[in-house]
Amino acid sequence: MNPARIAASILSADFARLGEEVRKVVASGADVVHFDVMDNHYVPNLTFGPMVCAALRPHTTAPIDVHLMVRPVDRIIPDFAKAGADIISFHPEASEHVDRTLALIRDHGCKAGLVLNPATPLNYLDHVMDRLDLILLMSVNPGFGGQSFIPHTLSKLAEVRRRIDQSGRDIWLEVDGGVKADNIGEIARAGADTFVAGSAIFNAPDYGDVIRRMKHEIVSHTGSAA
Ligand code: DX5
Ligand code: ZN
Repeated sequence: MNPARIAASILSADFARLGEEVRKVVASGADVVHFDVMDNHYVPNLTFGPMVCAALRPHTTAPIDVHLMVRPVDRIIPDFAKAGADIISFHPEASEHVDRTLALIRDHGCKAGLVLNPATPLNYLDHVMDRLDLILLMSVNPGFGGQSFIPHTLSKLAEVRRRIDQSGRDIWLEVDGGVKADNIGEIARAGADTFVAGSAIFNAPDYGDVIRRMKHEIVSHTGSAA
């Protein structure tokens, strides 16, 4: 299995000091910067766009993982590629043509991901595995940080892990929502290799301490390097 990665969601960071927060969380052990884009249309909240991504890009060499919770999707993809995104993922319900949107992301030089909500079936994956670099399973309904992990995500993760392994492809399996040091072990055991954490990290006084505890839990539940 891939080495585990912690993707810090800056949704819970101090927006008045975002550049500093990104530098600090990466120095504290975060492997990926998770960038939640919300449009007050596809989801009932509003965050930041490509200009903020471009402003943060010089602050880190860690991959920027853009999670688009917007509709429509396609128009904004080139803007995020230009703004320095490494990975761009979107919700299939928000795209008119999922295969085309996935191709558009790769054509712009980024890794492509599909995000499945808690009630979204896995059959969206059936015909696009060769177009995917990332599968993101939502373990809360998208729109807000600080919600509780929905337990049925564990069996969904296990099924997606099986499909990825069967495909033989190098596809990250990411989980997003309600991930904490005290449940990350069982989430890792279910098959995730990339863990989004927002409030668990940014609401803590010492980011490094939380990230170390998370990585320790992953290793002790799976034996794989974090
Ligand atoms: C929710 C976002 C998440 C959010 C997770 O729509 O996609 O990335 O920041 O926040 P926590 O870790 O607090 O559940
Ligand atoms: Zn997210």
